[in-house]
Parts: sequence; C-alpha cells; structure tokens
Amino acid sequence: MRTSVAPKRSAAEVPTAPGRLPLAGHAPWLHRDALRFVRELRRHGPVTKIYIGPRPVHVLNSAEATRELLTVRARSFDKGAMFDALRVPLGDGLITAAGDRHLRHRRMMQPAFHHERIARYTRVMTACSRARSAAWEPGTTRDLMPDIHRLTLDVLLGTLFAHPQDPGLRPAVKDWLAVKYHSMRLALSPLHAWAERVPLLPGWRPPDPGPLRRLVAVLRRIVETCRADGRDRGDLLSMLLLAEGPDGALTDAEVTDELITLFLAGTGTVSAALAWALYEISRRPEVQRHLHGELDTVLAGRPPGFEDLPALTCTRQILTETLRLHPPSWLLMRRAVRPVRLGGVHLSPGEEVFFSPYALHRDPHLYEDPERFDPDRWPRESVVKTPRHLYLPFGAGSRLCIGEEFAWAELTLALAAFTAHRRIAPAGAAPVRPLVGTVLRPDRLLLTGHPRRPS
Ligand code: HEM
Repeated sequence: MRTSVAPKRSAAEVPTAPGRLPLAGHAPWLHRDALRFVRELRRHGPVTKIYIGPRPVHVLNSAEATRELLTVRARSFDKGAMFDALRVPLGDGLITAAGDRHLRHRRMMQPAFHHERIARYTRVMTACSRARSAAWEPGTTRDLMPDIHRLTLDVLLGTLFAHPQDPGLRPAVKDWLAVKYHSMRLALSPLHAWAERVPLLPGWRPPDPGPLRRLVAVLRRIVETCRADGRDRGDLLSMLLLAEGPDGALTDAEVTDELITLFLAGTGTVSAALAWALYEISRRPEVQRHLHGELDTVLAGRPPGFEDLPALTCTRQILTETLRLHPPSWLLMRRAVRPVRLGGVHLSPGEEVFFSPYALHRDPHLYEDPERFDPDRWPRESVVKTPRHLYLPFGAGSRLCIGEEFAWAELTLALAAFTAHRRIAPAGAAPVRPLVGTVLRPDRLLLTGHPRRPS
C-alpha cells in the first residue's frame, strides 16, 4: 500500500487528466467507458483533476487520500453534485442530508438497523427469495435481472411496511425509481454543469418532479395511518415513527424523506450485487461446488434463516469478493464546505471530489491480481474483517452504509435460495456488459438453472 506523505499542493498544481475537450471536458470519456477512465486515472498520481463541462473535479486515486476524506476530514465535506441532482427525485433524507441534520437523522434511524431488528426482517427476506426463486422453472433459461429487481423491491416493501400496503404504492415507487436512475447521468453531464451557470440553456430539461410528488402523496397516507396506530408492528417504519431524539420525534415529512431514501439506497445496490454474484459463480463450477457443499451441510435441504448466517462462510467469501470486483456504488462524490487540505492538496469551499471504490478495488498496489475473481483471498469467517480504507463497497466513516448488515443478510439468504436446489450456468453467446448508472450492474443475466438435489 502507498503510505508516502503527499507534498503540499494548491488545487491549481494538481495534474489535469489528458484528453480534456472544449466545452465537454472529460465527460465524453466518462460516457464512452467510465470504468476504464476512472481506473486509468491512477497513472497520473494520487490526485487528478478532471472536468465535467466547465466544472473541475478532483479525483482521489489513492486509498490513503480516500481514507482521509471519509474519516478525519469528513466534516469538511457535504455530498456534492450527484446528491444535489438526487434531491429532486429524492427529497432530503439521510443519504443527501449534511451536517447536524445528517447526525440527528443517523442517530434516530440507527435502531431500525440493529442486529435484533435485522433478525425479524430476515423472515421477509427468506420468504421473498424463495418465492422469486420458485418462479424459475427447473431446467429453463431466464434473464434474472427483472426477477432480482422485483425481489429487492419486495424485500424492502415487506420490511418497511408490515401491513397490507396501499395499492398505489408499488406503481408509485417503480415510476420514481425510473427517474432516480438518471441522477448519475446528471452528475456527469456537461450540459447539466453548464445549465448551473447558464439559466434556460437550450436543450436542457431539468428532472421531472412528478414521480416524487406522487410517491410522497402515497407515503404520507401510509405514515399518517401508522402514526395514528402508534404500535410497533415489527417493521422498519415503526422504528422510524417511534424514534425519539433530544428534540423530539421525526416529523411525518422527515419520515417520508427517509422512506424514499431507503427505496433509493436499498434496492438497486442489492440487485446489482446479487446479479454480479450469480454471474460470477455461474462461470465457475469449482466455486459453485464449494457453495453447494456448504449449503448442503448447513441447511440440509431446509430454507435458510437468520440463525444460519454465521455458518454460511463460503457464501460470505463469495459475496465479499463480488462486492470487491463489482462494487455497485462505483463512483462517490463529496464537495468541500470549508477550506481543507486533502491528499496534500488545498481545496476551497465548493470544490468537488470524486472517489471510485471500483478503481480502488482493482488497484494492483492494493490487491494481488486484482482482476481475478477469487473468494479465497478473504478469510473464511462469517463476518470477514475487511480493511475499511481498502475495501469500500459500503463506504466508510460517518457516512458508512447504514444498511450494511441488512444487505449482507439479504444477499446471503437470496444467494442461498437461488442456488441451493440448482446448478446455474451462463446461457447465450452475447457477453454481459456492465451498465454504468447510479449503480453498476450487468445489463442482463441470462442463466440456465439445472435442478440438483442437496446431498
Ligand atoms: C449491496 C448493497 C449495498 C451497497 C453496495 C451500499 C452502498 C452504500 C454506500 C457506498 C454508501 C455510502 C455513500 C457515500 O459515502 O456517499 C451507502 C449509504 C447508505 N446506504 Fe447503502 N448500500 C447497500 C445496501 C443498502 C440497504 C439494503 C439499505 C437500506 C435498507 C441502505 C441504506 C443506505 C443509507 C440510508 C445510506 C446513507 C447513510 C448516511 O449517509 O449516513 N443501503 N450505501
């Protein structure tokens, strides 16, 4: 790992990546092949400057500078351009909130993600995973991406709301999810960057606020009904309504914003991770044999549950390696809110910083043979102790993913449900392409499921 102390530099001295184009900056390279672009930036030093249209952005290419950003310098930054773009489709929940609002909401939401609470949610996770897996007829070939999207939405709806749901909810969430996928495109769009400077720019259309308005209306109805009921129904919403901070409970509007944040943060990310895990093991019979061996021993043919999670260590290794090679949150952003020194560079308020878990996880200085999928690079433990600043699928520091344990449980149970009774193999000749949006996921996942009997 690089540990050398970075020399002091002003932002003006940071090298600009080659290939900057008039008006567009580096955006065309990001649009053409974003993953390659962010991976190759490390050749230009620990910090590189790129331009999105007229907007300069500092990209951190070193683990040390990224650790500094997420831990000791975290309070000098808010979330930046992507999250500004998200505020229209999202409202102002935990993921976009800054400063004291973030701290207050984080403390109040934490109990909803406590270990004992996750145990309850796993019943929903297992039931939904089994139902989705059962829809895949033995011996058939299927694009699993739509099933996986449905599964992660089912799980989130089932854990957020214990009671029969408002019939308008699912369509409202689906419409809104379609809009929010544009947020990364906005953050990397030179047109958007120019539109911030030139009001009424021709050809520029701001995001449509309609889907958010409709979703808010449905969620408000649900929140009001549950608030009036006042009981703990065992779901996540109860925990948000019952949470008490020094200045009282969350208001209905704040709870609604948090529900919307959870739809954003807890669906596409899990879908992408599960899809990549199935993709990787479908291509590796040896890895699949190990997985089947573990599932047969631990589960002996019965469905998996919360109590099985500590024993599913091979499953955990596979997922840990999947999240290294294919971190769904492939690019993350911050913006300085005060003068700050980061990675040896002085930044002024308003200056933006990107860092890429994807690029970091594939840095040969940090991981041996980084392009190889190798679950055995991780110790065989139920909770793999990963080095936080080298392994960032869930971020780090005060903005660490609040749903991390939820996600591990959901992924483990879903992977077990989809693979325990079948051997999966890739189908179709067309290669799978990574879709680079707000999350990084396969464009499709065509797999054949051959039935197998657990031994
Ligand atoms: C594999 C699945 C997941 C991945 C890869 C993932 C990744 C991340 C990352 C990287 C961050 C930090 C973003 C940043 O620093 O800018 C984050 C934050 C967050 N995640 Fe997750 N996440 C996953 C699942 C979930 C789930 C299931 C939930 C909730 C049910 C969730 C809720 C959140 C929330 C609310 C935040 C904001 C935390 C804060 O700012 O305090 N995530 N996630």
